[in-house]
Amino acid sequence: MSGGLDPRLLARAREVVAATTGFRDDAIAGEALERVVRAEMARGRAVGELLGELLRPDSPLAAQLVRAVLVGETYFFRQPEHFRFLAHEGIPAALRRGGLMLRGWSAGCASGEEPYSLAACLLACAPAGVAVEVLGTDIHEASLETARRATYGSWSRRESAPQLFPLYMVEADGRHVTIHPAVRRVTHFAPANLLAPPLERWGHFDVILCRNVLTYFSTAARDVAIAHLASALVPGGLLMLGTVEVDRVPAGLVREGPPELQAFRRPLPGELSPPPPVRAPVPRPVPPRRVSPPPPPPPALVAPPPMPSRMHLDALERIEEGDEPGAAAVLESLVKQAPDYLPGLLELALLRERGGARDAAFPLMRALRARACQLPPDALVEGPEALPARFYQASADAYLNLGTLE
Ligand SMILES: C[S@@+](CC[C@H](N)C(=O)[O-])C[C@H]1O[C@@H](n2cnc3c(N)ncnc32)[C@H](O)[C@@H]1O
Repeated sequence: MSGGLDPRLLARAREVVAATTGFRDDAIAGEALERVVRAEMARGRAVGELLGELLRPDSPLAAQLVRAVLVGETYFFRQPEHFRFLAHEGIPAALRRGGLMLRGWSAGCASGEEPYSLAACLLACAPAGVAVEVLGTDIHEASLETARRATYGSWSRRESAPQLFPLYMVEADGRHVTIHPAVRRVTHFAPANLLAPPLERWGHFDVILCRNVLTYFSTAARDVAIAHLASALVPGGLLMLGTVEVDRVPAGLVREGPPELQAFRRPLPGELSPPPPVRAPVPRPVPPRRVSPPPPPPPALVAPPPMPSRMHLDALERIEEGDEPGAAAVLESLVKQAPDYLPGLLELALLRERGGARDAAFPLMRALRARACQLPPDALVEGPEALPARFYQASADAYLNLGTLE
C-alpha cells in the first residue's frame, strides 16, 4: 500500500495515464496520482467506485489524473537557435517553394509562449503578400485557455531567451505583457492529443515545433507521435524537436542544419533515391562432387571483440523491441570497452534518463561532455550516424543545463 492507498487503484491510474498521454511509466509522477486519488477518497468515494470509473479512459477521474501529471514549463523564444535557423534558412527555403502562406504548428504548446514566438518569427520574416498562420495544440485544455488570454507574467520571459522578434507589449504594471494584436490574430489554439492523427482540416505545415514533449513518452508512443507530425509537413517542411528527444533521424525525414538543432525535413518529391530494385535470387551452380580428401579443419579462432558501432546497433535493436534491460547491459559493456565512443555514452545516458535513473545519467553526460570538448567541434564522430563532436557537446550541455544553447 502506498500511504494507505489501494495499490490496484494506483496501478490502474498509471495505466490510464500512460495509455492517454503516451508517457513512460517512470515519467508519471506517483505523488500527483496519489494526490488526486486521496482527494477523491476524502470526498467519501470508495475504491470500487473509483476503479469502476477508471474503466472508462474518458471519465472525469481519468482526465483529472492526466492533468495532474502534465508538465507545462515553457517560455518565449525557448531554444532561440531554432528561431534564428528558421529566420535565416527555414523560412527563406519555404518562400522559395513559392507558397503564399507560411504555416506553423506548435504541437504540445502548453500555455502558448511557443506558438506566439513562432508566429512572431514567421511574421517578421514574411514578405508583403505572404500570409502567416500558426496553430498551437495541447492535450491540456486549461493551458490552452491561458494561451488564448495572451497575457503573461515574468515567468514566461527568461534572460536566457532573448525577444528575437516583436512579440508583446509590457503592461502598465510593468510585470505583465500582452501579445501584440498582429501576432495574436494569426495564432489559433485547439485541443489535440499527439497520439491521434492530426485533423485533416488543419492541412499541412511549413514548420512544426514539438519540443520538450516527447521526452516524457515511451519509445513506441514517441514513434507514433513523430509519424503523425511528419505526415502533416508539406514536402520540404521542417520538424524541430527538443535537444535530447530523439537520437536518430525519424523515418521518412532527412536531417537539416547542424545535428544539435534536431531539425528534420520532409524530402521534396524525387529527392530521395528510389530503393534498390529487388533482385530475383540467382540459382547457384551445384558444386561438383569433391574427389580430393577434405581440407584439415581450420585452427580455432579467438573471435575479435565486436566493434563499438555493432554493439550500439545491437542495443538500439533491443530498445526497439522493448528490451531496455538488455540494451542497458550491452551499452554498459560498450562504454567499458570503448569509453571514447561518444554515441555509446549518449545512448546509455539517455536510456538511464528515460528509466528515471538521473544519478546514473549525470556522470555519463559529464564524461560525454569532457570527451567531446577534447575533439575539434567539427570532427565527425563515427556511430550509427556520423555526427560532429559539437553535437555531443551540445547534447550534454543541454542535459546538464549548462545553457550554451539557450
Ligand atoms: C514541457 S511543455 C512544452 C511546451 C513547449 N513545447 C516548450 O517547449 O516550451 C509539454 C507540453 O506537452 C503537453 N503534452 C504532453 N503529452 C501530450 C500529448 N500526448 N498530446 C499533446 N500534448 C501533450 C503537455 O500538456 C505540456 O503542455
